[in-house]
This record gives sequence, C-alpha cells and structure tokens, in this order.
Amino acid sequence: MRKYYLVTFGCQMNVHDSEKIAGLLESEAYTEAESPRDADVIVFNTCSIREKAEQKFFSSLGRLRTLKMKKPGVKIAVAGCVAQQKADEIRERAPFVDFIVGPQNIHAFRTIIASPSAPAYKHDDTYTGDNPSITELDLPASRTDTVRAWVNIMYGCDNFCSYCIVPYTRGREKSRPSGSIISEIRALSEKGYKEVTLLGQNVNSYRSDTDFPGLLGRIDSIPGIERIRFVTSHPKDLSDDLVYAIRDFEKVCEHIHLPLQSGSTKILGLMNRNYTYDDYLRRVGFLKKEIPGIAITTDIIAGFPQEKDEDHRATLRALGEIEFDGLFAFNYSPRPGTTAATMEGHIDDALKSQRLYEILELQNGVTDRKNKTLEGTLQEILVEGSDEKERGLLTGRTRANKIVTLPSSPAIERGDRVLVKIVRAHRHSLEGAAVERS
Ligand code: 5AD
Ligand code: SF4
Repeated sequence: MRKYYLVTFGCQMNVHDSEKIAGLLESEAYTEAESPRDADVIVFNTCSIREKAEQKFFSSLGRLRTLKMKKPGVKIAVAGCVAQQKADEIRERAPFVDFIVGPQNIHAFRTIIASPSAPAYKHDDTYTGDNPSITELDLPASRTDTVRAWVNIMYGCDNFCSYCIVPYTRGREKSRPSGSIISEIRALSEKGYKEVTLLGQNVNSYRSDTDFPGLLGRIDSIPGIERIRFVTSHPKDLSDDLVYAIRDFEKVCEHIHLPLQSGSTKILGLMNRNYTYDDYLRRVGFLKKEIPGIAITTDIIAGFPQEKDEDHRATLRALGEIEFDGLFAFNYSPRPGTTAATMEGHIDDALKSQRLYEILELQNGVTDRKNKTLEGTLQEILVEGSDEKERGLLTGRTRANKIVTLPSSPAIERGDRVLVKIVRAHRHSLEGAAVERS
C-alpha cells in the first residue's frame, strides 16, 4: 500500500485544494501516512499571500533534504501558490523536489503520482501553465469534515488589488457552471453533509447561466442542506440582490466576510480597491438595515505604503464606527511582482507592528462587547464535533458563525441542529446550554 503525507499552508481555497489532492491520491490507492518518514509521496500545498507563509514553507522544505538522502525513493511535490510563482527558486534551493504543481493544475497529480516509476515520469516535471478549463475539472475531494463542506464556485481573480499576489498565482477569474455546482452539492447532501461554504476569491462576480444571488436561490432548494455560507465578497460589487438573498433565502446564513482593508479612502485608492470608505459604510448600513443581527467580519492591512498616522487613525475610527464581529489583520507584506511592492513610501516593520497592535486591541474590545450582548439569547447551532481541548464538550456554530461549546449529551450528535441558550460569552467562543433539538 502506498502512502502520502500532505501539509497545507494558507487559506480555505488551499485547504480545499488539498482535499482534492488527497482525493486524487486516494483514487490511485494511496492512504494517508502518519508522518513524512512513512510516506512514499510528500506534498506541500503552499501559500504566498505574505512573506512569512512563504518562509515557513521553505524552512519545512529544507528539513526534507536529509529524509530524501536516506530514502531516495520518496517523491516530493510542491503545490500551491509558491509553486506557481517560484518554480525556479524551488528548483535552485531544493533540487530534491520531484514535482512542481501550481493551483490551476492539481489534476496533474493523477498522472504524475499514478506511476512515478513509469517511463513517462520526468524528474523535473513542472505544471504551472494557465488552465482555461479549470472550471470543468470536478476533481474528487477527500473531505476532512463530515458535516460542513467546501465547494468551489469560481477560480482566480481579476481585481488586481495592488498588494495581492492571488491574480498572479490563481490566474484569471472563471466561474464554474451552475449545473456542476448543484450536482456536487446534491451528492454532498446525499452523503449527509448539512452545510456548504461556497468558495471564490470574489463570489459577487460569479456569472454563468445565473448570477450569484440566483445560484444561492438554487442551492437553497436542495433538500438536506441546512446552511449555506460563502467567502469572500468584494465590497465594490456587493449588490442589493445579494443583500436580499441573504435576507430572504432560509438557508443562507446571516454572516458576511467583507474585507475593508483600510478606513482611509486615500489608501483604498492606492490599494486599487475601487470603493471609498463612505461607499463601504453605505453598503454596511444597508446590510445592517435589511438584515438585523447580521455578523460582519473583515480583513485589515496595517502599514500599507504611504499610510500616514491620519490614515491609520481613519482605520481605527472605522473599526469603532462599524463594529465588526471579528477581523483578520496583518502587517503589509510586499509581494514581488505586485504594483504596491514598487510604490514609494514603504513603512518600517516596527511601525507596522505598532499599528497592527492598536487595530487588534481596539477590535478585542469591540468583539468582547458584542459577544456579551449574546448572553441570555437563544441561538440555533449546527453541531460540528467535540471540542479538541476539552473533553465532554461539543462545538458548533451559530448562523452568524460564532463558535459555541456545550456539554455533550447522548441525545446530541454531530450534524444536529440544536437550540441553545448562551450562558457565557468569551472572546473566541460562547458557552451554551442545549434547550432543544430542532
Ligand atoms: N500583505 C498583507 N496582507 C495581505 N493580504 C493579501 N495580500 C497581502 C499582503 N501583501 C490580506 C488581505 C486579504 C487577505 C486574504 O490577506 O487583507 O483580504
Ligand atoms: Fe487579492 Fe483583491 Fe483578489 Fe482578494 S480581491 S484575492 S485581495 S486581488
């Protein structure tokens, strides 16, 4: 029996790509290895969104050098965004790597791994070409969860935010035909999945025979699926119809991840985001008006080039004004090949980190306050599994995507929808007590 060992870095898109890589390997009779030492194939699925993620990968890769010397038969593959962007550097720094496979070409695993010793196999196989038919691939996924599933609805990105590497690694934006999305979700429902998260760099620009709100409507009517989520939305094309779809379709959860990036309109311009802070505020106002209780989360970049104190203060002000339910914030990281990397006025790391700290501190206060208001309320949660740290606890999420823990009980199983009363709020989770199963 041949075995594979797979390490994933980065975003949800990569997590799901890894499920497909695993699916392809398993369809060729590979099983998962406990450690790299037991594996016949080792795959790194990499991320290049920020420099740190890339460095982390290069140092883990370095550790495989000795393994490959001791066990020359082991095949090492690098997949993901670093593979796409830095194939030459990988070859140079790690000549022991056997395969390089970009995110648009993961189907190549089927050929390269099926018979690594067959004559067709070449030591330096690199698969990083643009793939116009990526939307037709429908690769089998070996999913790690049994209740919630990721589903690609589109690939790539055309926005070219000036800091972002994604349009260069994942290529041009392409929507998957609605028919294959629907069949995949029907099959998931038949297997017992209850929740789907639709994945795309910018789901709002989904276009096939229907637009994104239309797609949500079709998925809403698939029996067995109880919750629908989606990531990520771009504020510039958050349409009224999408707001109505979240409001009106029963299964579409009241949560939107809507990256703001900065509260300064000047910085948003330099970022090529195509909206002003006021535009953003108006969209959020409309969301809150139409869908009371909607959770809004965001991404913020600290220390973008030319960000002055007043721009940073505008971001802090925005966080106080909008009161996000949560955020991901990172220091700006210059990515070679992007426009922002060559801009004037880069900010030193200490100042970026100081600004990041202020952003996170302010948000912590907001999160605590908002979570506190949930104490005593009733929430419907979908039970996902047991708490990893604390035995005897189950975990699930509210429709607004807040994590809830509750005491396990023989009456409650993974995949159940349970009504809970929130008894105590913490920053990263809520404690609940079951009231009834729905
Ligand atoms: N530096 C810092 N953060 C970045 N992001 C994307 N590119 C960069 C970069 N070069 C962040 C953005 C985006 C999230 C996925 O990652 O906030 O929304
Ligand atoms: Fe990057 Fe912008 Fe595309 Fe998001 S929308 S992936 S931030 S270019």
